[in-house]
Amino acid sequence: MNVYDSWRIATMLEHRGMSRTDKVSEADIIILNTCAVRAKATDKVFSALGRIRRAKKPSALFGIVGCVARESGSNAFRRIPDLNFVLGPQSYHKLPQILDNPDAKLLNIDLGGLEKFDELPQMEKSPTVAYIPIQEGCDHVCTYCIVPYTRGREISRSFNDCVRDTIHAANTGAVEICFLGQNVNGYKYTDETGHLYKLSDLIREAAKIESVKRIRFTSSYPTEMTDDLIDMFATEPKLLPFLNMPIQSGSQNVLKRMNRPYALELYTDIIRKLRIARPDIQISSDFIVGFPGESDEDFEQTMQIAEQIKYINSYSFKYSPRPHTAAALMTDQIPENIKAKRLAKLDTYLNELQREFNIGCVNKTMQCLLEGPDKTGKHLIYRTPYMQQCIVEQTSDNAPAPILADICITAANKASLRGKFVK
Ligand code: 5AD
Ligand code: SF4
Repeated sequence: MNVYDSWRIATMLEHRGMSRTDKVSEADIIILNTCAVRAKATDKVFSALGRIRRAKKPSALFGIVGCVARESGSNAFRRIPDLNFVLGPQSYHKLPQILDNPDAKLLNIDLGGLEKFDELPQMEKSPTVAYIPIQEGCDHVCTYCIVPYTRGREISRSFNDCVRDTIHAANTGAVEICFLGQNVNGYKYTDETGHLYKLSDLIREAAKIESVKRIRFTSSYPTEMTDDLIDMFATEPKLLPFLNMPIQSGSQNVLKRMNRPYALELYTDIIRKLRIARPDIQISSDFIVGFPGESDEDFEQTMQIAEQIKYINSYSFKYSPRPHTAAALMTDQIPENIKAKRLAKLDTYLNELQREFNIGCVNKTMQCLLEGPDKTGKHLIYRTPYMQQCIVEQTSDNAPAPILADICITAANKASLRGKFVK
């Protein structure tokens, strides 16, 4: 979501005649687009602001947008007095106000909803992978999560707006469409006639566009994985056989305290149905270890579910107490050293699962999407349908690399694959 928001902000500034620079010392405006989901990310923002302050031109404007802006509000100005702007994730379209009035301090952390989508200029050229946000915010209110506070209640964009943005992205270069939302499969939009549109309708619509070759969506909540969506994996070949559906914990007891009140059997049943619909599907998850009250036994249940589902491409985090969340007030917080030990154990296992999956891909041919050349310029980086990175030798004839290519995987390790074009 932040990558998408940053593109929109950059496009808006380009429309005002600005261009990008990698050098802080050359910039006229420096914007940190921030994530507040864990404390470490928030801390990094403030140390980066300190560095930027010292390196920037005296006249340059600098500030923060996104979830840390929303969380800190006017405190950010207290911490860094010469900061120029603090704009929440739903008010960054107000940024031009600071360009027009650089001596003022600009603070806006309102949850305005969907205004920003319409007020910002469209990108003239889309990246190959286009992110299309279809909903914002989240109504699930997991007890550890700051997102319902920073991004607000769940709102779905109109079906027509989502389709319009998808067509625009396809017409300007997108080959892969990634529908985005904090609770993406909870997308629900009822039009004036009372017709209800769901994520499955959007996928069907995107698949009709000839130049769109791959479709995915992230991030999904288990109980919103309804049968119409599961069926899409059986009927829509452009939908990639890869799904991020975080479980967070394998303990029923911890899930309940996380306010994720689905039965583990329901979660595993959805995965069973998905595998019937699409036998080659792979699942990725996010995990939190060391949630308040998590016992050794609870943690072992997380290890067991990882083993049972055989996740690929997953992320695990130490629980981080966040302001405005219920879990931060729970009294049975887990000591840091236990969290670290559990994280190391789970991480090692998830890496092992990834390595096994990658090695199992050797000698298989997959249709992959070009990301670009690597740093040396000698190789090309492609993405497999499972989001693995695949490194391919540049062809000697200097012909332009195909955007989509059939690639036979020749070698694999934990982090990436190597492959060659299938002639
Ligand atoms: N502590 C640790 N991880 C968190 N996440 C969300 N909130 C927290 C927190 N307080 C993780 C969840 C989520 C991912 C985006 O970040 O696993 O799926
Ligand atoms: Fe946060 Fe995801 Fe839970 Fe929503 S479903 S509250 S975004 S962790």
